[in-house]
Amino acid sequence: MSRIVYVNGDFVTEDEAKISVFDRGFLFADGIYEVSSILEGRLIDNAAHLARLKRSADELKLDLPMSTDDIEKAMLELLEKNGVHEGALYLQVTRGAADRDFGFPVDAKPSLVMFTQEKNLINSPAAEKGIAVISVDDIRWGRRDIKTVQLLAPVLAKQAAVEAGANDAWLVEEGFVTEGSSNNAYIVKDGVIITRHLSNSILHGITRAAVLKLVEQEGLKLEERPFTMQEAYEADEAFVTSATTFVWPVVKIDDAVMSNGAPGEISMKLRKLYIEEALKR
Ligand code: PDD
Repeated sequence: MSRIVYVNGDFVTEDEAKISVFDRGFLFADGIYEVSSILEGRLIDNAAHLARLKRSADELKLDLPMSTDDIEKAMLELLEKNGVHEGALYLQVTRGAADRDFGFPVDAKPSLVMFTQEKNLINSPAAEKGIAVISVDDIRWGRRDIKTVQLLAPVLAKQAAVEAGANDAWLVEEGFVTEGSSNNAYIVKDGVIITRHLSNSILHGITRAAVLKLVEQEGLKLEERPFTMQEAYEADEAFVTSATTFVWPVVKIDDAVMSNGAPGEISMKLRKLYIEEALKR
């Protein structure tokens, strides 16, 4: 069955969808995106995703083609048309199509595309078994707080992980972990959860914010600060968070095996709590 996708105001089958070769997303990665998870046919934390989309747009002086309220209406319509029960909705806004020139075009209309992906988010093998990560240099640009479609560095990091027989990569800059290739990274040592503080160096994860709220509610100890790979190797457990993983335990970091190769207790507790909370809303 062909999916229905959204392209600039139209709902069309995926083989009918068209975007210009002059689109600046294609030519310059001049665009931003969001990924919202879907559980029981509902978008999770969508208001926060739309608020971050607006912030990313403002940071790049990119006009959204319509209000975030109208974008949400289109998201819900797309969800309904595809009847997705569990998975993700991907949304991308670019500065639009114009003759190739580096500066902002004066009359281009921003492009907005969206599609859904069915995925088992709750019953995922990675969540049950945990994932292995490798460390790679963080070669991304300096504004990782803006969720741009400029994702070649994460693509190379993830591919390096696959070639090394791992599932993902943790990015390291000046000796400290910034984040995962497409998720936020955490270690746990002596009951303290450690994750990098918010700055331009990392994406301000929507799942991170929700999980840190749970950490507080549960009275768990938290340190928001940079940590080294050595600390990661010596940690009791580790995990990552994102809209498409929720909380995934990490059981191996480079050659260091975490929590005897099994998902850690705190990681699994936070995963369970996150899913319970998401299903409530
Ligand atoms: N990635 N850090 C990076 C670099 C990311 O790309 C993501 C999300 C996150 C987690 O953010 P959130 O909790 O808001 O999903 C952190 C999405 C899922 C992706 O690119 O597919």
